[in-house]
Amino acid sequence: MLILAIESSCDDTAAAVIEPENRILSSIISSQNEIHSPFGGIVPELASRRHIEMIRPVVQKALSQAGVGLEDIDLIAATQGPGLVGSLLVGFTFAKALALASNRPCVGVDHMAGHLLSCLLETEQPPFPYTALIVSGGNTSLFAVENPLSYTRLGRTRDDAAGEAFDKIAKLLGLGYPGGPEISRLAMQGNPDAFSFPRAWLGRESLDFSFSGLKTSVAACVDKLKKAGHTLPIPDICASFQEAVVDVLVEKTLAASRRTGHQHVVIGGGVTANPRLRQVLSRRCTEEKLNLFMPSPALCTDNAAMIGIAGYYQYLGGRLADIDSDAYSRSPLN
Ligand code: KG4
Repeated sequence: MLILAIESSCDDTAAAVIEPENRILSSIISSQNEIHSPFGGIVPELASRRHIEMIRPVVQKALSQAGVGLEDIDLIAATQGPGLVGSLLVGFTFAKALALASNRPCVGVDHMAGHLLSCLLETEQPPFPYTALIVSGGNTSLFAVENPLSYTRLGRTRDDAAGEAFDKIAKLLGLGYPGGPEISRLAMQGNPDAFSFPRAWLGRESLDFSFSGLKTSVAACVDKLKKAGHTLPIPDICASFQEAVVDVLVEKTLAASRRTGHQHVVIGGGVTANPRLRQVLSRRCTEEKLNLFMPSPALCTDNAAMIGIAGYYQYLGGRLADIDSDAYSRSPLN
């Protein structure tokens, strides 16, 4: 079976062709970083306009790079939500129209399900059930994943997502958008113990997250240093901030796996491309005798291949989209 998958939930236009037996034949991503970088965040109107320009060439490139035509495709999958509705509508409407015109089935996929299942595209796949940490620009959540179609949320952020915190701190330090990759690069040259930023544990039992206090604390520190006339030690600030985020993400993930009793831990979402998070989580999972499955960094950040694999299981479960299916901004999973 060949699946054409489309992802346009935020600021990347992506298309992929996959075979459900976990072979990615092509995965194309057209990034909008240059458009949004001057604003230090995503401008929704600019995002949807760019999706309209890019959706057709990106889908065509995905098909041609896979060496197939639309006539070879058996299923069309597209992100239905959550995300920016103007952006989602471009990809989802395109997919529904393509499916209607070519008489193919279409599935609308939840973006979170894509992140939860992206590990299934790797050679070494996690067995079910597993505990999953999903951390991106819009989400920071823990899930118990029972099977490809059944997930229970264990915790989520009460304010900012971790990726959002990375992006806001990067903006504060004048580092551009998206902030995560640049902060993690600079953090490698910094001292993670230079500043003691707060970790929000939210009580012993809680599997929820909060990053707004950390963000305020970094902003206050930067303000104080500037007022005192100091040159900002940017690598030290980046390393100390990153360490605070990583500590909380790692320890809450381990607490979640203790609660579920699962032996397998899976991660997904753009922030899980962070090398320090991957390093610390690997070490802690080994110490706790847990099996950790990490998608390659290209499958952590937004991509259409993960929408394809999630769409495949939805298709098997008989959950098809119809022409009236609408995009949604908030995930029922979250
Ligand atoms: O999953 P994703 O590509 O898009 C969604 O938000 O759905 O995640 C993007 C987020 C951004 O906030 C970006 O700053 C963050 O992931 N990110 C990182 C890294 N790479 C991307 N955060 C920390 N370290 C990274 N290396």
